[in-house]
Amino acid sequence: MNAEALHVLDPGQAAGLSQAGMRIAGETVDTTHGPILYLDGITVSFDGFKALNNLSLTIMDGELRCIIGPNGAGKTTMMDVITGKTRPDSGSAFFGQTIDLTRLTEAEIAHAGIGRKFQKPTVFERHSVFENLELAMKADKRVRAAIRARLASDDLDRITEILDLIHLRDEADRLAGLLSHGQKQWLEIGMLLMQEPRLLLLDEPVAGMTDEETERTAELCQSLAGRHSVIVVEHDMDFIASIARTVTVLHEGALLAEGPMDTVQADSRVIEVYLGR
Ligand SMILES: Nc1ncnc2c1ncn2[C@@H]1O[C@H](COP(=O)(O)OP(=O)(O)O)[C@@H](O)[C@H]1O
Ligand SMILES: [Mg+2]
Repeated sequence: MNAEALHVLDPGQAAGLSQAGMRIAGETVDTTHGPILYLDGITVSFDGFKALNNLSLTIMDGELRCIIGPNGAGKTTMMDVITGKTRPDSGSAFFGQTIDLTRLTEAEIAHAGIGRKFQKPTVFERHSVFENLELAMKADKRVRAAIRARLASDDLDRITEILDLIHLRDEADRLAGLLSHGQKQWLEIGMLLMQEPRLLLLDEPVAGMTDEETERTAELCQSLAGRHSVIVVEHDMDFIASIARTVTVLHEGALLAEGPMDTVQADSRVIEVYLGR
């Protein structure tokens, strides 16, 4: 990575990846009581229509949580509230015990340690896989590396570790634009991981993937849990069944059911609104 490489970043994308000079949230994430995310009584209205209706949700530190629900249930709106894109009309949203997400900007929330992957992958197509991970490093590290004109060995180790995790070790020198759709999705997850998020939000990560890619993504999600807390929103029920520990079902902006996959699948209300369709 050199200083020149910094200039090729699209400013919008660069802002989304790292916040150079950004005011730090000023506190570390306090998970001493267990939860990393608390939503309590969240309501979001669009012209009187409640996209979220008194939604409460608690995610424990290190948990892998799956969120399902029919189209329009409010899943994406929930992620928008967590990431600061949408402000709730009422309710509270805390990251750990002390960080009030409703008072932070989107950039501050990203900086505080919440990473979000949107459905469409946004990688730097004209850069190699390795460079994409390098570019995704926290800005302060990137600047230090540029000054030294080389990566610190721990940063190099981190990139190598992530290349293994996302199954792209053999593709490190390939241009990202030449990767398959599934590989681009993994690369984007890897780029988020370079930011060392405490909580990772994945919105429909296996959409458009082959069966084999879907299986590998399931493995990836499972290996992330523990080190990170992960919330996965997905429609693919086989995928959810293969990774799910606790499943939360949303319906009309509210919590319909929550529990182990087999319990949720057998719940008559869930079958009625979602699985039975
Ligand atoms: N910006 C918006 N303006 C108006 N209605 C919206 C907006 N965003 C979402 N909605 C509505 O809120 C509901 C929940 O949407 P969404 O959170 O995208 O659901 P899901 O991701 O579960 O499919 C839908 O009825 C949707 O049309
Ligand atoms: Mg959605």
